[in-house]
Amino acid sequence: MNPIHPIDVVLRKRDGHSLRDEEIHAFIRAIVERTPERQLVTDAQIAAFLMAVFLRGLDARELATLTSVMRFSGDTFDATPLKTFTVDKHSTGGVGDKTSLLIAPILAAVGLAAPTLEGIPGICVPMISGRSLGHTGGTLDKLETIPGFNTQLNLQQLAETLKQCGAALIGQTPRIVPADRTLYALRDHTGTVESPFLITASIMSKKLAESLNALVLDVKVGSGAFMPSYEKSKFLAELMVQTGETSGTRTVALLTSMNEPLGRFSGNWIEVWECVDIMQGRRHPVSRDLIELSNILSGWMLHLAGRASTPEEGARLADQILTSGDAYKAWLKIIAAQGGDLSVFENPASHHKPTASRILKASQSGYLASMDCKQVGWAVQRLGAGRAKPGDPVSAHAGIESHVKLGDHIEEGQPLFTLFSEDASLLDEPEQMLQNTLVLTAEPPVIEPLIRETISASGAQP
Ligand code: URA
Repeated sequence: MNPIHPIDVVLRKRDGHSLRDEEIHAFIRAIVERTPERQLVTDAQIAAFLMAVFLRGLDARELATLTSVMRFSGDTFDATPLKTFTVDKHSTGGVGDKTSLLIAPILAAVGLAAPTLEGIPGICVPMISGRSLGHTGGTLDKLETIPGFNTQLNLQQLAETLKQCGAALIGQTPRIVPADRTLYALRDHTGTVESPFLITASIMSKKLAESLNALVLDVKVGSGAFMPSYEKSKFLAELMVQTGETSGTRTVALLTSMNEPLGRFSGNWIEVWECVDIMQGRRHPVSRDLIELSNILSGWMLHLAGRASTPEEGARLADQILTSGDAYKAWLKIIAAQGGDLSVFENPASHHKPTASRILKASQSGYLASMDCKQVGWAVQRLGAGRAKPGDPVSAHAGIESHVKLGDHIEEGQPLFTLFSEDASLLDEPEQMLQNTLVLTAEPPVIEPLIRETISASGAQP
């Protein structure tokens, strides 16, 4: 057979053809196998390929092939020796979204309570998470505020932690899906980040490399979402579900509202503190949406794992596990196994040590009708909790506390947000950003439900 040249792949996609599997395979292999001395494919050709995909799209087969070839472009986690049910959750990113910190221990508690014949938890959650970027927070940055906690486990250590605890919370290793590193870096420079096809291949190749039996996707919609419209979020959710199912992983996507920060705190340590409070049985009223979403996502995971006959039954089970303290016991086990110092959970509030804070109060009375949640996320980033570019350090103690929720009636002078930073000079701009984005109305607003739609292999359900 004639060799496949990268330029021919680019030309065929540019001209609107459907690429053959061998062509996709050859192109991605060339990316992974090239060296400075042997430029099997150039950055210019990869950039042109990305733009051709951005403009022409991919059909279902091409997308499944691209995702699969990327998935196997480096190391993958092999969960088969554990003989357990592997399940994970992925969120497209939000503000104050800390559901992973509750979901991993909830699922681990169920898995620990029902071990396999080999004594391995019956459900395992190999959660490979990311860092904060742009207006959204990152699970790894939150976890790394726990002294000693190690997110950089290799795949052998991941397997050991799963055997012992039923869940592990780790970062991407450089050897998992190396093709995505190259593609993602070039997408950033070529205006092709927003392609739903490229997002699907990027996210799903990394999730499927965890060797999952099931995956629940939390695709955000609303002013704080990554995608600019409801339709685009829904299309992305459909592509991801179709791609997951094609590869043999049961996949469900929930379209969920991100019109305000989720829960009470948005930052790093303060988000860990909020979750520890909940797991220790203290439910602050402002954490209500966080608890509800965590239970619903866990409910779907438990249902797909065969531990609940419906997702609703799964959500009730998840709530019982939170209330009984079993999730907290599983949390302590996971954190200890990954080297974390458990003493910080004895009094989590006392570990919140911002050097500067300010309370933003309402300048008038009315109903809190809306806010640009992306702006709230950027305010959190400017306080020091997020990054301007990859690799920047983040502050453990910066962030905001939400005192009110959309739809609440507010009196003039009532506290809306408390801002925290480790540098007093960083308070002014975020305060102004928050002030500018809040809309108060005389009439009660209509608030969108937390769960907008559920997308599964059998279609969409309102
Ligand atoms: N997260 C990813 O990992 N990839 C994308 O393309 C977008 C979000």
